[in-house]
Amino acid sequence: MKKIVLAYSGGLDTSIIIKWLQTTQNAEIIAFTADVGQKENPAILEEKAIKTGAKKFYFKDLKNEFIDDYILPSLKASALYEDRYPMATSLSRPLIAKNMVDVARMENADAVAHGCTGKGNDQVRFELAFKSLAPELEIIAPVRVWEFKSREEEIEYAKKHKIPIDVTKKRPYSIDWNLWGISIECGVLENPWQEPPEDAYQITKSPEKSPSKPDYIEIEFNQGIPTAINGKNMNCLDIITLLNGIGGKHGVGRIDMIENRLVGIKSREIYEAPAATILHSAHLELEKLVIERELYHFKNIISKKYAELVYYGYWFSDFRKCLDAFVNTTQKYVSGIVRVKLFKGQCIPVGRKSKFSLYEESLSTYTSKDIFDHKASKGFIDIFGLPLVLEGKRNRKK
Ligand code: ARG
Repeated sequence: MKKIVLAYSGGLDTSIIIKWLQTTQNAEIIAFTADVGQKENPAILEEKAIKTGAKKFYFKDLKNEFIDDYILPSLKASALYEDRYPMATSLSRPLIAKNMVDVARMENADAVAHGCTGKGNDQVRFELAFKSLAPELEIIAPVRVWEFKSREEEIEYAKKHKIPIDVTKKRPYSIDWNLWGISIECGVLENPWQEPPEDAYQITKSPEKSPSKPDYIEIEFNQGIPTAINGKNMNCLDIITLLNGIGGKHGVGRIDMIENRLVGIKSREIYEAPAATILHSAHLELEKLVIERELYHFKNIISKKYAELVYYGYWFSDFRKCLDAFVNTTQKYVSGIVRVKLFKGQCIPVGRKSKFSLYEESLSTYTSKDIFDHKASKGFIDIFGLPLVLEGKRNRKK
């Protein structure tokens, strides 16, 4: 009998997939759920999976692996897709896929399956990860090929096969939730002209309702990695949890964007990522203080490419590893403290310091303490501007 490891969320689609795979593939199903901070009750999930027909259920706490191997590299790389999206969903897919491959190997499974649709990015991310790590495994994507054309047909099927589902819980949005952020789409959000209703947001207060006094937070980094909040050393999971709480309270980290999907579609998605927004902004601020100009500019280019690779599902590529090697080298001096102000939906860096700072007050000051050699600038400008002088002369001749 065929054995299939399924990425299982406990929702309608993946519940039906268990039964559908069993019957169409004559297979034994191993359901796999990753704990990436989405606050699921594993006991309830397990009961549901087994009742639905899964032979076995795995629930793995991947929060720390997620942080160490996926979130922190992307933070150091300042990877924001299309300049804004910290990629909570995108980063979690290769992590889940890798752990599914581990289970598949342990269980001697023949195939892996996921519940992604045929028009999203996530199918690509899962499958590129599977292909990179275990090209021998068959990949099955039931939602792309099955007969159901609507939610109603799926519910019908569930009823017929006595699959326990919660039909009353029809949510108006499709939500993907983990500790690095929440992705929300569908429903009224599909109209890009419509402002997201408050009920679309899960963890952030609206700036209108957020406190009328700011909170100031000091975030310490060591070589690009956050290590302390307000002088207190904390592990990254606690830091992220704390910042999601306090940032959410101030309405920080709401992102409403039209994005370019890999499959060519433009989609409208809402994100809530208080901790990711605060950490990216503080980290970038520290880099401005300690990284030399040309390297800083070049790293910006790398950040864009890095974000594309993550978004496109190229996580396990040599390309991404090469960029990581570059990024890690840039982080040697990214140690210090940034003070941010959280207020009415904004995270504003208002102070920064580092023992590796390249900022020299004696050079930048306009007071009598100034040591900059003003006279030297003439020669600098003469030579730096020489190409433009030549060009200007030529253009006037014409
Ligand atoms: N657009 C985001 C991405 O591709 C999130 C996709 C999942 N969104 C959702 N609401 N289920 O990374």
